[in-house]
Amino acid sequence: MRYNYKDLGLVNTKEMFTKANKEGYAVPAFNFNNMEQMLAIVEACAEMGSPVILQCSNGARNYMGKPVVAMLAKAAVDVAREMGSDIPIALHLDHGSSFEQVKDCIEWGFSSVMIDASHHSFEKNIVESKKVADYAHGKDVTVEAELGILAGIEDEISNEVHIYTQPHEVEEFVAKAGVDSLAISIGTSHGAHKFKPGDDPKLKLEILAEIETKIPGFPIVLHGSSSVPAKFISMIKEYGGEIKDAIGIPNDQLRGAAKSAVAKINVDTDGRLAFTAGIREVLATKPGEFDPRKYLAPAKKYMKEFYMTKITDVFGSEGAYKKATK
Ligand code: G3H
Ligand code: 13P
Ligand code: ZN
Repeated sequence: MRYNYKDLGLVNTKEMFTKANKEGYAVPAFNFNNMEQMLAIVEACAEMGSPVILQCSNGARNYMGKPVVAMLAKAAVDVAREMGSDIPIALHLDHGSSFEQVKDCIEWGFSSVMIDASHHSFEKNIVESKKVADYAHGKDVTVEAELGILAGIEDEISNEVHIYTQPHEVEEFVAKAGVDSLAISIGTSHGAHKFKPGDDPKLKLEILAEIETKIPGFPIVLHGSSSVPAKFISMIKEYGGEIKDAIGIPNDQLRGAAKSAVAKINVDTDGRLAFTAGIREVLATKPGEFDPRKYLAPAKKYMKEFYMTKITDVFGSEGAYKKATK
């Protein structure tokens, strides 16, 4: 064991989710890829007193390196405490694809993992998820699995159409797999193109409602929940970027879900858009600028402001814990 997550000041998601479901909000799971993004996330959540899941994909882990991921997560805890906030912080593997990968993440300080075996058969999904849950629980690490497939690219596997989660399968799945939370497919998808122009951007909230009756109180997870803010799309275009027909999930659809048994909502793309808009703005308006801090600081500011707005408009998790005093 290189790092035990508890020594880094991190927590698993168990108590976070119990409190979130009891109090009718969802915990933000924001993906991070570097120091600026980690700081934007933790400062936003500490200022608002919101619990947070620092979410790291395998790609992000390869980009940053294992020790850096662990030390950035530890730094996030220290930053929150320095700010006078007691928010719980989890470090979570996003879309884990194998038992070996999950094991390696746990050895390097992750407090929570996802095993995404959703593209396998129902039976194989249970076997793979259970293997991970048995191992992870031995280390007091929480496990998310997925049932149903999101349209678009998911874990390097692409699917033309949504395969919605079948409500009649969820009870058996969670009982047999023994996982702590379940990601479902109700019409969200990854990336900046979630609907085609002219589509009605609606989620299948009736499927969510039915799932909730099958597994009452069980923590449900929504992936692919970026709202793709028009402000960042127009900034990116104005300052030389190309991004066509980008459409996200309307916040009002997600807000209703957050009040229900949805305990975790994943947002990655919106952070990327805010970051890119901020950098493009500085580089386009100040072409002589070559100090990275001068374009990374505004990019971080846009991300932080975005995370705070999303907490208010979608998660409803403000004030769940002590807000920063400094
Ligand atoms: O669900 C996928 C996440 O948005 C992570 O994306 O693998 O490019 O880091 P990534
Ligand atoms: P978005 O692409 O909508 O941000 O979804 C992120 C996600 O689900 C990460 O697992
Ligand atoms: Zn995802």
